[in-house]
Amino acid sequence: MTKSTLLITGGAGFIGSHVVRLFVNKYPEYRIVNLDALTYAGNLENLRDVEYAPNYTFEKGDITDTPFLQTLFEKYRFDGVIHLAAESHVDRSISNPESFVETNVLGTVKLLNAARNLWKNDREGKRFYQVSTDEVYGSLGEEGYFTEETRYDPRSPYSASKAASDHFVRAYFHTYNLPVVLSNCSNNYGPNHFPEKLIPLIINNIREGKPLPVYGDGKYTRDWLWVKDHASAIDAIFHKGRTGETYNIGGNNEWKNIDLVEKLCDIMDELLGKPPGASRQLITFVKDRPGHDRRYAIDATKIKTELGWEPSIRAEEGFRETAKWYLENEAWLQHVVSGEYQRFYEQQYR
Ligand code: NAD
Ligand code: TYD
Repeated sequence: MTKSTLLITGGAGFIGSHVVRLFVNKYPEYRIVNLDALTYAGNLENLRDVEYAPNYTFEKGDITDTPFLQTLFEKYRFDGVIHLAAESHVDRSISNPESFVETNVLGTVKLLNAARNLWKNDREGKRFYQVSTDEVYGSLGEEGYFTEETRYDPRSPYSASKAASDHFVRAYFHTYNLPVVLSNCSNNYGPNHFPEKLIPLIINNIREGKPLPVYGDGKYTRDWLWVKDHASAIDAIFHKGRTGETYNIGGNNEWKNIDLVEKLCDIMDELLGKPPGASRQLITFVKDRPGHDRRYAIDATKIKTELGWEPSIRAEEGFRETAKWYLENEAWLQHVVSGEYQRFYEQQYR
């Protein structure tokens, strides 16, 4: 196996930390550099178990900082980039769209420029991997699935910024022959998920006996994927995906929000030794999210047939594992819900 130096951006975030851990442990011959600005969503506690690994280095920095990127790329001369750094929360994108343009669009373009510049004379074996979302495809009705051919139709500032960045990645492939690969994945869940997102927010609120906010009629549908399965899909695509191609990643695991919240209530009641039905009393329907996409669902046939990847665990097992992780990692939760997050929560749910 060749010795490679890889840049993973956003490695201190939810999905990024699982990708960093997988690569650091699975590929001791690689040098893994994690670049993260440590925004409210980035947390080095996510990586405590690998921080002293000999093949791992953390670099604090911002993907929108061109001189910093130039120095970083000259210092490490990366063979590959796996790009996850982003602003990732739809509700925040509704209240502050500009920061999503800056990080997700401008940051991605600056990163593409840095890779293009480094690899201008030798693109052999190089790879720029853009980690994206199924939300770029817009909203489905009761029927149908997103395929890799589905037309982009983003409807939130978050998905619009991810769609724009995907377009730039493909433009760099066509215009400059930059060796790129992309994936569009459904909603992830699992350990280290920041509690502004639905699943950890519900688990945390049940712990604290707080209302469980369900937007609108609660019949919005998402496809949920275990985060470690996303990391293994990224590994497969990074190593075996075809250059210039896009792969959809999904969990074959659709849930209406209200059914999911009820399932989490039942799991938590069991784990906390509460009477059946106790946590369901906390469910509160609240004002809907503006422009709320009704349903996301993924057709993941391509990654299965081409790369042999499939989700590994059943929903029930994954949700239970997740709930247990939050109960066993109270200190992690206390650290991330302090300060800035409290202000966001009060503004969002007041
Ligand atoms: P996250 O918000 O948990 O983590 C994002 C990370 O990026 C954080 O560590 C943050 O500090 C870092 N970051 C933000 N701005 C930065 C900047 N300017 N420079 C450097 N680092 C910066 O997000 P996540 O849920 O782990 O998502 C990671 C990626 O996967 C994103 O690109 C997202 O669009 C994509 N994605 C997420 C999901 C999901 O369900 N969470 C699904 C599909 C795709
Ligand atoms: P979220 O976790 O924010 O992911 P995304 O918007 O990227 O799919 O939300 C998942 C679903 O849960 C979405 O339909 C919005 C809904 N939701 C609620 O009903 N209540 C909440 O408090 C949150 C955060 C989300």
